[in-house]
Amino acid sequence: MRLGVNIDHIATLREARAIYEPDPLEAVFIAKNAGAHQITLHLREDRRHIHDSDVKRIVQSSPLPVNIESALDEKIIDYLCALAPQRITLVPEKREEVTTEGGLDIESHYDTIRDVLKTFESYGIATALFIDSKKESIFLARELGAQAVELHTGRYANLHLMAYSNLSRTHRSIKSLKLAPQEIYEEMTHTLDDITQCAKLATSSIDTRTLECFAGHGLNYQNVGKIAQIPQISELNIGHSIIARAVFVGLERAIIQMREAMCQR
Ligand code: PXP
Repeated sequence: MRLGVNIDHIATLREARAIYEPDPLEAVFIAKNAGAHQITLHLREDRRHIHDSDVKRIVQSSPLPVNIESALDEKIIDYLCALAPQRITLVPEKREEVTTEGGLDIESHYDTIRDVLKTFESYGIATALFIDSKKESIFLARELGAQAVELHTGRYANLHLMAYSNLSRTHRSIKSLKLAPQEIYEEMTHTLDDITQCAKLATSSIDTRTLECFAGHGLNYQNVGKIAQIPQISELNIGHSIIARAVFVGLERAIIQMREAMCQR
């Protein structure tokens, strides 16, 4: 199971002072030493953390493959194609959101996604589509010729927080998930089952086009084990929880500890 470390929040911290440190490029080398397999970053339309120059420096200097998350934004896509990172993951984006809230609506953007995937192919860039765990999305991703899907684990992560942390007793409690404990556990089981079924479907060879299956969003040291145990998922992309822990134990240790958590049964 590969680990992609999302380093956006190193840039978030830098932007708090709008100066030059901490430099996300430095994180790339620490991640490599800690055994990470990939660097992931998101060039958002509002450039709230990662900037164009970060992407350029990281793609040019990273000893690890670089996976860049991008919305269907023509200018960003042109910029990224010229840099030719190893992979681009297409994600939905809303200006007002704190983080990527859901998966791509492939059906509504079918033609645009098809054209963008063809462009990536012509530049030799691998592609993934960030989707919710819905069977229809897997079929559409196959039909479009994507190489991989990344399943959004945010709902599972939120249910896990509501079930096993203090969150539900604080002002940060997630209103839409204010359910009786039994219902939370049942929902969590359903959500995990949906992720598992979609991972199986994505990687099954029902036609000549199989997809690689990745997962990410909201994964932390407590909830990662169950997702990492799904054998069809070959890569996890994790950011916030690793950077949060790095504040206390350092980035190298935080990544090593996440790799250990991914192995726990
Ligand atoms: N994967 C994708 C496609 C994302 O958009 C994000 C958030 O930028 C992540 C993984 C990482 O999520 P988190 O920071 O919650 O670990």
